[in-house]
Amino acid sequence: MIEVENLSVRYRGSYALQGVSFNLDSGQIAGVIGPNGAGKSTMVKAMLGLIPVVSGVVKFNGQLLQRILSKTAYVPQRANIDWDYPTTVWDVVMMARTVKTGLFRQPSRMSIELAAAALEKVGMAELKGRQIGELSGGQQQRVFIARALAKQADLFLFDEPFTGVDKKTENVIFQVFQELKSEGKTLLVINHDLGETLNYYDKLLLLNKELIALGSKNEVFTPSNIQQAYGMSLGFMGK
Ligand SMILES: Nc1ncnc2c1ncn2[C@@H]1O[C@H](COP(=O)(O)OP(=O)(O)O)[C@@H](O)[C@H]1O
Ligand SMILES: [Mg+2]
Repeated sequence: MIEVENLSVRYRGSYALQGVSFNLDSGQIAGVIGPNGAGKSTMVKAMLGLIPVVSGVVKFNGQLLQRILSKTAYVPQRANIDWDYPTTVWDVVMMARTVKTGLFRQPSRMSIELAAAALEKVGMAELKGRQIGELSGGQQQRVFIARALAKQADLFLFDEPFTGVDKKTENVIFQVFQELKSEGKTLLVINHDLGETLNYYDKLLLLNKELIALGSKNEVFTPSNIQQAYGMSLGFMGK
C-alpha cells in the first residue's frame, strides 16, 4: 500500500502542492489527473524525495519510500530528459542495474538478461545500439519503460507516459502496465489526456494543488470536481 500523508511543496513563495493525503492499495494502477501546473509532477518528485518538501510522510508497504528507492522505478516526463546526451539504448536500460552491479563492475549475467528481456518486451531489442537522441518520441518512451522493467521494482511511477507517443507505443505501454499489475506491482501514472486512456486505471486521483477527488472514474468525474479542478464544465472538455 502507498500511504501519503500531508505532502506539501513550496517553490519560492507559493505552494505547488498543499496537504495531499491518500492511500492506494497495492496491485493497482492509479492515474493522476489535473490541469497543467496542478502539481502532478511535483507530487511524484516529492514522493521520491527528489525535491525538498515543506511537510509530508510517504510510505510503501509500511516503510518510508525514500528508504526503499531500489524497489521503486520512476519514468520522468519525456520533455524533461536531455535527449542530446550521448548514450545508447542499451546503456540507458543498463542504468537500472548499476545500483545492483556497482558503477565500475561488470554487469552480472542476470542484469544483462533482465535488460535484454525488457527491451524485447517493449519491441526495442533490435535498436539497442542506437543513440537515444536518434529515436522517435514513442521509441524513447519505450526505452525508459524498459529501464523501469529491468529494475525489477515493486512500485512504478510514470510521468505522462502516453504524451506524444504513437499508437503502437501506447499499446505496448498499456500491455506492460497490465502485466505489471498481474504480477501484483503497484503503479502510479500521471495522465495528461482525459480521453480513452482513463479507462486503463483502477483508481483516479484528481489533483489541483490539493487532492480534489480519489476513486473510480465515475466517482471522480462529477461536475463539481471537474469545476473545482479545471474551472470549467464537463461539456467544455469534449467528454
Ligand atoms: N523547479 C521549479 N521551480 C519553481 N516553480 C516550479 C518548479 N517546478 C514546477 N514549478 C511550478 O509548480 C507548479 C506545478 O508544476 P508541475 O508539478 O510541473 O505541474 P504538472 O505536472 O501538474 O503540470 C507550476 O505552477 C509550475 O510552474
Ligand atoms: Mg507534469
